[in-house]
Amino acid sequence: MAILVTGGAGYIGIHTCVELLNENYEVIIVDNFSNSKKESLERIRKITNKDFRFYKIDLLDQVNLEKVFIENDIEAVIHFAGFKAVGESVQIPLTYYHNNITGTLLLCELMNKYKVQNMVFSSSATVYGMSETVPISEDFPLGATNPYGKTKLMTEEILRDLVLSNPDWSIAILRYFNPIGAHKSGMIGEDPNGIPNNLMPYIAQVAIGKLNELAVFGNDYDTLDGTGVRDYIHVVDLALGHLKALQYTLNHNGIDAYNLGTGVGNSVIQVIEAFEIANDVKIPYNIRSRRPGDVAICYADTIKSNQKLDWTAKRDIIEMCKDTWRWQQNNPNGYED
Ligand code: WQD
Repeated sequence: MAILVTGGAGYIGIHTCVELLNENYEVIIVDNFSNSKKESLERIRKITNKDFRFYKIDLLDQVNLEKVFIENDIEAVIHFAGFKAVGESVQIPLTYYHNNITGTLLLCELMNKYKVQNMVFSSSATVYGMSETVPISEDFPLGATNPYGKTKLMTEEILRDLVLSNPDWSIAILRYFNPIGAHKSGMIGEDPNGIPNNLMPYIAQVAIGKLNELAVFGNDYDTLDGTGVRDYIHVVDLALGHLKALQYTLNHNGIDAYNLGTGVGNSVIQVIEAFEIANDVKIPYNIRSRRPGDVAICYADTIKSNQKLDWTAKRDIIEMCKDTWRWQQNNPNGYED
């Protein structure tokens, strides 16, 4: 029985596939390389010394996607595939709704048809919208404020209705906080297209000299040093959370959502300082105005995922910075196909 990983060549996907293979799961990866590179698949094979099946397919191509279900005995799906840039989603909302929602609907129709009724779904803390209360728990009000976040929120609702219609389904919705870091080998990591939008890859490119200095978006928030506070979680801890969620879905029915975070908040300045201490580098930065849509502070209440999934993030911010830097130094231009 195999685990189908959609978007498995992406940043979180490849880290999850490494851990699945390490645990001797049979893995099938589907990816269209819209936000990933083929080289990342070779790295998975080198790290694990194991192989897996790969199909270069877009989820919107239901005819070819069906072949994956015909040709393989699939037990569960870990569904990462989707566009995920907040800013871009505001510019091209229809593309985001079509790609993320229609793609998921076509996937679920095939899962239904072939009686594959276990799923781990990649959601995001962005579904909590502009919540200013922390720590954030799963029963907080939901309210995404951008098309990307709305596709995650809508998909969560679609999956809940699917389970209501057929209680044989089992789905774990994982709401990621801020994934950063890289596998210890330095062979896989975050490889953003163009100028990074997110903090850690931007810091790493400043450290390697690809970018001059970091713009800190606001230092007038009501936080310890005025800069934005987030719950940064090591991508390997996140990947291991997927394996725990997979195990849970294989042994239970129903649907539930879980925060994957550390429960610890770090400010932008604290992340800069951690990166400088961890790697003995200097990160020049300047303070700029706030970025529209940012909240002051956001970090997870992790009690539910700790208890129900028997999962806890173990890696701290220093390890996240060290692992990021090792990846960036080994791969200054990311994966070069
Ligand atoms: C973190 C902090 C910025 C860049 C986003 C998405 C979210 C999820 C994770 C997909 C904030 C500050 C950043 C920079 C800065 N993605 N910052 N200078 O916005 O918390 O979450 O990524 O699920 O959906 O919204 O992450 O890394 O962009 O920002 O000062 O150049 O760093 O203001 O306080 P964010 P981020």
